[in-house]
Amino acid sequence: MLKTPDLLLFFCLVGATNALYKQWIPDTNYANGTNWDKGDVPCGNDIALFPGQKKVSVFVESMHAVREMRLPIDGEFILNPGAGFYVLSGQDPGCGAGVTAQFKDSEPLQWFNPTLWQAAATLDDLQHGNLLFSVHEESVPCQHDDVVFKALSSFRVDTGSSQANIPVKSVSVLGKMFERKSDFYKYLRSKSGQLQFQGSSAVTIGNPGCQDPSGCDCGNSANHQQICGTVTCNPASCKKPLLPIGHCCEMCGAIVTVYYATGFNLHNYRERIRHLFLTSSQYNSIQLGMSKVLKSQKLMGIIPFGTSPEIQVVILDGQSGALAETLARDIVRDAGSHGSKLGITGMEFQASSGSSSEQSGSIAGTVVGAVFSALLVITLIIVLVFLVRKGVVRMPSMPSVPSTLPWQRNTDAGLDGTIDHGFDNPMFDKPDTLSDIPGLYEANRNSIALTESGVYFINPSYDENSADITV
Ligand SMILES: *[C@@H]1O[C@H](CO)[C@@H](O)[C@H](O)[C@H]1NC(C)=O
Repeated sequence: MLKTPDLLLFFCLVGATNALYKQWIPDTNYANGTNWDKGDVPCGNDIALFPGQKKVSVFVESMHAVREMRLPIDGEFILNPGAGFYVLSGQDPGCGAGVTAQFKDSEPLQWFNPTLWQAAATLDDLQHGNLLFSVHEESVPCQHDDVVFKALSSFRVDTGSSQANIPVKSVSVLGKMFERKSDFYKYLRSKSGQLQFQGSSAVTIGNPGCQDPSGCDCGNSANHQQICGTVTCNPASCKKPLLPIGHCCEMCGAIVTVYYATGFNLHNYRERIRHLFLTSSQYNSIQLGMSKVLKSQKLMGIIPFGTSPEIQVVILDGQSGALAETLARDIVRDAGSHGSKLGITGMEFQASSGSSSEQSGSIAGTVVGAVFSALLVITLIIVLVFLVRKGVVRMPSMPSVPSTLPWQRNTDAGLDGTIDHGFDNPMFDKPDTLSDIPGLYEANRNSIALTESGVYFINPSYDENSADITV
């Protein structure tokens, strides 16, 4: 049996999950004027026409007067208790001369269209319109998310994609929440399910929620093409447009990158930023999205060898990006004084004005990060020397390179306290540094022979276990 404190702890942990609710925006409701070609719901003198060959699933919430109704071959009305249709014996005085109103094209809409979803941290927030901004990939339901189709609503969604499955945590349809795979599978096979969900990919539920307090990767990068195929980008008219990870379009604003350690809680930090800054009138035009993303790591800037998690904060101000930059600086300043309590070990930002942070300030953990970086660099040197001695690796000749340059960069950049960054920054993650220097790049490629031996000396340091050292 769990004792009370254990139980409390258990609930705290459960409460700390970081999945979001994603709600489908469009509906195919009878009472929604936008679903009718005339822009209005038919009234007592009108003919309601559903095109014969089109399938429909139409939710009817209340009683509607209509003169005549033509129905399609295949489809369904979902009637709320007390809902229905009736015909008036005389004229409907409030209804005009009477028209034929046609139910608009009810072709299913794309699941992977990010503009058709809205996100919130809780169901309550969804209801009250406290919505969260996300990059395009994360606007579409992520693998840990709860998917919500509005309770008093019908819809038709096309789940076609290149993937066989679309995994999510749960799906709510018409106020009923499905959490068990088999239940939802059965629903999908039902008449309603088939009218509502179409397409080659199966939405599968029962995926665990995000159990990591520091957040979870959305998992939609495999669908990037599909998602961005539905998005039209406006040209970004600022000096240096930025492209956040998971976004389809370049934007004007700022991106803050947060490096974290144990103790960091994404939900709490999001709330902190909201209360500290977003509620102030100065920032009420700001859109801010915060999530864990996997930044791909590239050896020498070209050879991908893995990913490292970091928290990406995307800030848009709908204008030049100047206000976004001010907020980014505020956030970095806040982390400078409270970062260690929040589990933040480092932070940097880029703004579309072209400015970026050199250094996030003296955050506790910076020192730790620098020490680890230094240790790693020393280890690397030892391993390299060893391999050179053994003749496994030949040293590249780098006569024209000021040898201090990469290492200095390391001490500047090793703020994050994670091994990955501390290690890859100095040499490999700054392709510019290397490629700027003619000859070196070539030399490296030729003599370090990454394809064979090089891989072996890189691997130990990038081993997954290395993450444990930071913790
Ligand atoms: C009507 O439908 C449109 C598009 O499907 C949707 O954006 C809008 O929110 C709906 N209106 C209401 C009142 O639900």
